[in-house]
Amino acid sequence: MVLADASELSEPFSWPASGATRVPFRLFSDPEIYALEQQRIFRGRVWNYLCLEIDIPNPGDFKTTFIGETPIVVIRDENGDINALVNRCAHKGALVCLQERGNKAKNGMTCVYHSWTYDLRGQLKGIAFRNGIKGKGGMPDDFDPAKHRMQRINVEIYCGLVFGSFADDMPSMEDYLGEKLSWMVKRNFDRPLKPLGVHSQIIHNNWKLYAENVRDSYHATLLHTFYVTFKVNRMDMDGGIVMGDDKWHHISYAKRHELDESDEYDKAGVHAAQYESKLSGPELLKAWDEFPDGITHCIQTVFPNLTFHYTLNSLCVRFFVPRGVDETELFWIYLGYEDDTEEQTRMRVVQGNLTGTAGLVSLEDGCINEFVQRGTHMSADKEAFLEMGGRDAESSGNSRATEAAIRGFWEGYCGIMGFR
Ligand code: FES
Ligand SMILES: [Fe+2]
Repeated sequence: MVLADASELSEPFSWPASGATRVPFRLFSDPEIYALEQQRIFRGRVWNYLCLEIDIPNPGDFKTTFIGETPIVVIRDENGDINALVNRCAHKGALVCLQERGNKAKNGMTCVYHSWTYDLRGQLKGIAFRNGIKGKGGMPDDFDPAKHRMQRINVEIYCGLVFGSFADDMPSMEDYLGEKLSWMVKRNFDRPLKPLGVHSQIIHNNWKLYAENVRDSYHATLLHTFYVTFKVNRMDMDGGIVMGDDKWHHISYAKRHELDESDEYDKAGVHAAQYESKLSGPELLKAWDEFPDGITHCIQTVFPNLTFHYTLNSLCVRFFVPRGVDETELFWIYLGYEDDTEEQTRMRVVQGNLTGTAGLVSLEDGCINEFVQRGTHMSADKEAFLEMGGRDAESSGNSRATEAAIRGFWEGYCGIMGFR
């Protein structure tokens, strides 16, 4: 079902009067709202992450992905340009590219159903039996292949990352992020990247719970005991939250060399602070000081469903694809730089375990978001309470004990969904 407008929901929805400090649980389980998001958000005026430029280095290279639930193919043409197309045949709508990645330089893209063939820009080039067989059947005389193509969407490449949008009047990525946030993308990505590994996991929760979770700086040192125990990230390190102008995106950062231990962790009986553990593989935390800004942990979000993290020296693109109202697929793409030494590459790969499937963060966040999904799914008329750090969605230069970035997400969400 595709709904045109919030007013067409079969049960009207209005945001609570207290604004983004209250989040109705209905948003995580209502299939009509989920359908509206596909249209208003993913196919609306946002930039969606598609792939890395290095995923498709050569003419003909393609990578399939999703914008919301819409299947997309990103393909490099003979001129070296990157094209993003809805992965849907212009004949009867079958998927055209079936693999996750590959190369179509030789024969273009052919739909397996009735062999319609497209060039690397998605233009229809040939159709089987166009003139019928032995003069019988075939397409009408006025059939014009030039009028049939795979649907094209807008593309922008920014710092080696490929973004796509169904809207054709988008601001540049630089403006979409704004100055306060774009510098961190440039710091982390604007040089030749080297792929280190990819994994994905299905998480059993609505996609917005993950969008909240990566903006939830409050939970990071409470749920993730490892971070506190081994001083990877604590609230009493120098750090803060930077919000974009429109509040859609944010950065949360910490500097582990500037730790000023506070006794709040002990006083509040925080379970994360109660372990006297030692690593039998201490090389997990072996790191080097890489950037002059001293930031050793950073989570950056890009609305709607993209996150970057940099922890010690582990650099990762995470993006999360809705797979239904209560299921999400989360992709982790680990990266280094072309000019890394072997030792640096090794350290980044090992540090990937801090967050990867063999590690801790992906497992803990996967569980906790599912716990929220299960806790709330029969309580559509109730709401979450988000007043940690105040009621606004402003940057905070000295504390991450705040839910400001989550409130910012909901302010942005409310606007694009037409809920206010
Ligand atoms: S559906 Fe693709 S050729 Fe028929
Ligand atoms: Fe987390």
